[in-house]
Amino acid sequence: MRISIIVAMDENGGIGFESHLPWRLSTDMKRFKQLTMGHHLVVGRKTFESIGRLLPGRRMIVMTRSREFHYAGVDIVDSLEAAIALSEKRDEDELFIGGGSEIYRLALPFTDRIYLTWVHAQIKADVHFPKFDISSWNEISRAEFEADKFNQYPTAFSILEKGA
Ligand SMILES: NC(=O)c1ccc[n+]([C@@H]2O[C@H](COP(=O)([O-])OP(=O)(O)OC[C@H]3O[C@@H](n4cnc5c(N)ncnc54)[C@H](OP(=O)(O)O)[C@@H]3O)[C@@H](O)[C@H]2O)c1
Repeated sequence: MRISIIVAMDENGGIGFESHLPWRLSTDMKRFKQLTMGHHLVVGRKTFESIGRLLPGRRMIVMTRSREFHYAGVDIVDSLEAAIALSEKRDEDELFIGGGSEIYRLALPFTDRIYLTWVHAQIKADVHFPKFDISSWNEISRAEFEADKFNQYPTAFSILEKGA
């Protein structure tokens, strides 16, 4: 099973502000949907609450330390290892890690691939992607996109694979 992080970050690694995504990027949202459709998607409890609903067609796994958290249709785990084991048991071929910051940090050592949207801007953020050594990753594809009325900032969509 491949383990893949999916993330959009600005030039300073910013990924969120006041519990939400700090931009409006319609093309990136569509890409997120297309890539994750049909797969298991692990998110932290805060990211799940920020999304606020089940994403149709995805098997959502929420990480929390709380025993009180429940949401119909969601699998709840208390560790990344449990999320990986659950997905493997269900014959998943690609498990997506959808953040936020702490979940990305835990997942990085297990991650084979990063679907990374570089947001070409410096935005106000209060949550950041963990520091990682980009030189140990190979960029296997990259595409640049202009800003337009549906996409607030120019972006680059990059796929990184862990180097040898
Ligand atoms: N730009 C992007 O691609 C992107 C992607 C995702 C999220 N975001 C943004 O990131 C922000 C949310 O991220 P965040 O880092 O604040 O929160 P988060 O990672 O989504 O959730 C944190 C929560 O996850 C649970 N958790 C963390 N580590 C755990 C562990 N080891 N075992 C079990 N549960 C664990 C805890 O839940 P409990 O407190 O319930 O125990 C913790 O409070 C939002 O602004 C969101 O919009 C951006």
